[in-house]
Amino acid sequence: MANNHSFVRILGVLLVLAMYNHPIIVYAGEGVPNVALFTFGDSYYDAGNKVFLSEEKNPAQTFWPYGKSRDDPNGKFSDGHIIPDFIADFMSIPHGVPPALKPDANVTRGVSFAVADASILGSPAESMTLSQQVATFETMKSNWTSDYIKKSLFMIYIGTEDYLNYVQKHPGADATKQQAFVTSVTSQLKTDIKSLANLGARKFVVQLLAPLGCLPIARQDYKTGNDCYELLNDLAKQHNEKIGPMLNDFAKSTDIDGFQFSVFDFYDAIIRRIERHLNFRFYVSDRSCCGVGTHNAYGCGKANVHSKLCDYQRSYLFFDGRHNSEKAQEEFANLLYAANLNVIQPLNVRELIVYPSGERMREFWEPTKISIRRRPPQDDSYTGFSTY
Ligand SMILES: *[C@@H]1O[C@H](CO)[C@@H](O)[C@H](O)[C@H]1NC(C)=O
Ligand SMILES: *[C@@H]1O[C@H](CO)[C@@H](O)[C@H](O)[C@H]1NC(C)=O
Repeated sequence: MANNHSFVRILGVLLVLAMYNHPIIVYAGEGVPNVALFTFGDSYYDAGNKVFLSEEKNPAQTFWPYGKSRDDPNGKFSDGHIIPDFIADFMSIPHGVPPALKPDANVTRGVSFAVADASILGSPAESMTLSQQVATFETMKSNWTSDYIKKSLFMIYIGTEDYLNYVQKHPGADATKQQAFVTSVTSQLKTDIKSLANLGARKFVVQLLAPLGCLPIARQDYKTGNDCYELLNDLAKQHNEKIGPMLNDFAKSTDIDGFQFSVFDFYDAIIRRIERHLNFRFYVSDRSCCGVGTHNAYGCGKANVHSKLCDYQRSYLFFDGRHNSEKAQEEFANLLYAANLNVIQPLNVRELIVYPSGERMREFWEPTKISIRRRPPQDDSYTGFSTY
């Protein structure tokens, strides 16, 4: 009895000692290396760069109701956090990634080069093209070692501006002209990705374009009522079809050693949330929470616009005319980080981060859902993964 007693005491002491020696720390992204996150693209990923390029002294996105859910309007286009903020959290990056144009930003764990109104082609006003963003990365590159850059994540979302402008300027373009335009956009994108790779980037995450004709701004501008504007959706689809094969080519080519990537099917993720919005607890998916017009798509946050603001932004898929609510952004970040091949392939972001740096990929992007390996085909292709 006495023996047992002291045994228990010793065990207790050992346990306490063990706890001091190996404190149990559980945090997001455990086991994931401390690498940086670099984001490129337009307002979806803009961490506040537009504020530095805008002639307007106090642009709308720096004012309530932007940032409403966090009581922090900070130049991001959402009622709160945007996708890269959540990804940064998952990667245990303490305060998200700062805008590249902010003086004296701490860039140790990465930076955002994305800026609202950015396009792939052209010379957008008070903004930057993707090539200009890549050039900015080049000027700052010596902040990081090449080994660190190689292990870090390069996330890209861009193209919306190109297609919205194109359709506005060429409403009657025929199929051949449309295809030619898509080809010029995607070839420039390819050139820009190649430039990043030449600067040492190796881990790419490309978010496919949303069904652009379903954005409240497109429904409002083209007066489609409850429908999406098919021409814009079609251009987005044509664009998206080229991304997987393009990245496969990079990964298979021998020019660039160890090129690795993930392609997130943002198009379908939005479509699922529009078609079956209640399954995702979005009560409104065709109008935005904040703005004026038939679909509340204009002027959110503008001082001279008396825009409507919904009561509860988490029940809206879109916060303003073209950007998702924070709740939706959080869902997309979770999909990017951890979803299966129905949603992101050939690797999700967590897998991409831990995939050995410098190694060639063993799996590649595949065009059809039939090829999805983890789940047998089903009659209703949406059944079974409405959580996605
Ligand atoms: C910058 O951020 C890194 C990592 O988040 C941190 O370790 C470092 O102390 C920061 N530097 C300054 C000057 O705040
Ligand atoms: C590091 O980044 C800062 C921007 O935060 C930039 O001003 C600076 O030139 C960069 N330093 C180097 C050595 O590249």
